[in-house]
Amino acid sequence: MTFNKIPMLDLHPEVEMLWDELQNAIARVLRSGTFIMGPEVEILEANIASYMGVKHAIALNSGTDALVIGLRAMGIQAGDEVITTPFSFFATAECISLLGAKPVFVDIDPISFNLDPHQLEAVLTPQTKAIIPVHLYGQPAAMGKILKFAAQHNLKVLEDCAQSFGAKYMGDCSSCTEECNPKLHRKFTGTMGHAGAYSFFPSKNLGAYGDGGMLITSDDALAETARMLRSHGSIKKYHNQMVGYNSRLDSLQAAILLVKFPQLEVWNQARREIAARYNAAFADHPHIVCPPLTDGHIFHQYTIRIKNHSRDTIQQQLEEQGISSMVYYPIPQDRLPVYAGQYPSYPHSEQATLEVLSLPMWPQMPLEVQERVIDVLKGVLS
Ligand SMILES: Cc1ncc(COP(=O)(O)O)c(C=O)c1O
Repeated sequence: MTFNKIPMLDLHPEVEMLWDELQNAIARVLRSGTFIMGPEVEILEANIASYMGVKHAIALNSGTDALVIGLRAMGIQAGDEVITTPFSFFATAECISLLGAKPVFVDIDPISFNLDPHQLEAVLTPQTKAIIPVHLYGQPAAMGKILKFAAQHNLKVLEDCAQSFGAKYMGDCSSCTEECNPKLHRKFTGTMGHAGAYSFFPSKNLGAYGDGGMLITSDDALAETARMLRSHGSIKKYHNQMVGYNSRLDSLQAAILLVKFPQLEVWNQARREIAARYNAAFADHPHIVCPPLTDGHIFHQYTIRIKNHSRDTIQQQLEEQGISSMVYYPIPQDRLPVYAGQYPSYPHSEQATLEVLSLPMWPQMPLEVQERVIDVLKGVLS
């Protein structure tokens, strides 16, 4: 495939590779006449629960719904405080605000871009009820320390795994200390806290061809409430027990996800190899800080920092030479207009918004396309 402009992500190769299977799966659903919560949804739930090693996987309409329903099923309500990271997509804080609870932010660790667990103590109040760590860009957050803190203070933990399908936790740092619980090692993100919220947005590592999401948990009561909430607060039709949502996954998306799911590990490994090539090409570059190639990281995004140059100018110059790039995220959640004036500044998060740049990456990215990205970026930074 030749590109006029190199995109951030190209889904065409996977569609072509899986075309026959996709076509068959879609035809099967169309002919079945069962479009919502059909057998494909149940099979997807069973397959993902078994892969992750959890008791329950609840398919939903989006990752945002998985966060909202996850929090509600944990009992979070108006007036509660939920601690999270400022450096994420707005759905992370939005789900807290939607319930009338208050997002409380702590700054990020500048290396991992994830919530810094050392800051948790300072924001704890009697209203604190939960923590939402985000495994940003596919890199697991410091779950050892986060879970230890949560257990000490009786807090719920909802992992935002929208960007981390297939990622495994390997310790809080490269030289894991006794502070990390070895029992957590090699566990999938989403399986360590009380529940994990996944997104099947098309660009995700496991993406549908429309919206979709999933809540996973091994807590029976939490799962039962979540199942009720996804279907207007009812388990038995027309016997609604609480005010819920319409958040069912449709059968077509489940059928598509079932075709793609067996490829996930190969695709995640391909992403890691692409990340390793980028890292090797940019090693020791005076103006690029590479992401650490930590075990368990599945590189939903390959994100560098641009140092001593205007990141926006570099992005513009890449654009002029036909290379897409993205800034995830240009404004931290606490400074979005919706929260104007409500929060202090979080310096590491602020700094990240000025420096981060995500480069093109998809599992089938041809070598020569990646080489072009590398050459052009080195050129504009010289
Ligand atoms: C970190 C994070 N959380 C939550 C979401 C929300 O997922 P969805 O778009 O499926 O609602 C996203 C989606 O981009 C995300 O990146």
